[in-house]
Amino acid sequence: MSAPRKLFVKTYGCQMNVYDSERMAEQLGGQGYVTTDTPEDADMILLNTCHIREKAAEKVYSELGRLRPLKDANPDLKIGVAGCVAQAEGEEIMRRAPVVDLVVGPQSYHRLPAMDDAVRSGQRALDTDFPDDDKFDTLKSRGKAKRAPSAFLTVQEGCDKFCAFCVVPYTRGAEVSRPASRVIQEARELVDAGVAELTLLGQNVNAYHGHDGGLAGLIWDLAEIDGLERIRFTTSHPNDMDDALIAAHGECAKLMPYLHLPVQSGSDRILKAMNRKHTAESYVRLIERIRAARPDILLSGDFIVGFPGETEEDFEATMDLIRTVNYGQAYSFKYSTRPGTPAAEKPQLPEDVMNDRLQRLQALLTEQQRAIQNSMVGREVGVLFEKKGRIGGQLIGKSDYLHAVYADAPQTAIGQVRRVRIETAGPNSLGGVLVD
Ligand code: SAH
Ligand code: SF4
Ligand code: F3S
Repeated sequence: MSAPRKLFVKTYGCQMNVYDSERMAEQLGGQGYVTTDTPEDADMILLNTCHIREKAAEKVYSELGRLRPLKDANPDLKIGVAGCVAQAEGEEIMRRAPVVDLVVGPQSYHRLPAMDDAVRSGQRALDTDFPDDDKFDTLKSRGKAKRAPSAFLTVQEGCDKFCAFCVVPYTRGAEVSRPASRVIQEARELVDAGVAELTLLGQNVNAYHGHDGGLAGLIWDLAEIDGLERIRFTTSHPNDMDDALIAAHGECAKLMPYLHLPVQSGSDRILKAMNRKHTAESYVRLIERIRAARPDILLSGDFIVGFPGETEEDFEATMDLIRTVNYGQAYSFKYSTRPGTPAAEKPQLPEDVMNDRLQRLQALLTEQQRAIQNSMVGREVGVLFEKKGRIGGQLIGKSDYLHAVYADAPQTAIGQVRRVRIETAGPNSLGGVLVD
């Protein structure tokens, strides 16, 4: 038998791309590929791209430029572009980058085996359809090889919300939910392979409707799986946080006390211009209800500064909202113009105004995150240990609240949720000792 072909995958963007990269590698596994960490010895290089902010496409073209010498050295090397830039600019990539053999969109990568056959026979292959058939029906099952304790599982894709700044509804298409039975089957396969924590993924995961009881119904069913210790989900939209999901945060022991609930802005004027369809007030009320169900929940958010038309007063409203909510984690971005989105037509704010606001916003968010991390000291938390640390007998894991935690622990603790008393808090991680 010939030596296996080697596949190098580079992943940009969100967790859904991380999940897709794994599944693409599994698809190509059936074509005789094994994954490699070094592009130099690869027979196929796949860039799984993100289109969310400006210059994303330009980054892909410069990465392709850097890969060209590898192709000159190895004429059998095939190069593919997947993900959201592939979806948005497929034909343009083919035109501009002759080095590319294959372009595949996020909804058509189940066709990769046939595309691989085509490129191996010297053709170029492009598939950016939103096919009628469900790619998940065709994808290979997850396999039995031992896995890391924490895994992603995509349950919903696409977005119908059309926020005025965002490309996702165009690159990922309309909202589609996978049937609960399929999700549960995949979850069982993952748990059988050693997974103890699942993070359910969707561009709008709480709009999930593949179960009669919505996302909460799915979570309750998954919680029945023996060996599955923890469930998380991301990313949610405030308007889809229904009562059952809020209640689950209080009642389902396996659902972790962490919620990423982006708000983008604290100004009603800007929220309206963004087409978010909620107000700052309704968001704060929602947070109150969630905290009533689960008082210790750690909240995370996304913020955009410098959306077209944002005044200093609007920005201050965002700062006020942050002070009201108190976030344990956050992601913040300068507004980035995305051609084809409604906001792209509007006059842009000067760069220095955006820079200044981003700095002030991030300083406040960092202060809140640090204070919450420091408040963990002295507390006992559950930690799922994931791997060895750099020092001696240390393992690294994630707390219930998703903080990285270091502790001295036996190797056998990898894959287990153990009780840890937190003793130190650094900027990016906590340190503790095992108490069970
Ligand atoms: N579906 C999720 C997030 C998708 S994109 C949600 O609704 O929240 C992740 C984050 O990127 C967004 O929450 C937003 O904060 C940021 N983002 C999206 N488009 C952007 C743009 N044009 N400029 C700057 N940030 C953007
Ligand atoms: Fe983009 Fe808005 Fe959809 Fe989130 S909800 S993916 S920000 S359009
Ligand atoms: Fe980026 Fe596409 Fe995810 S644009 S953030 S990779 S959905």
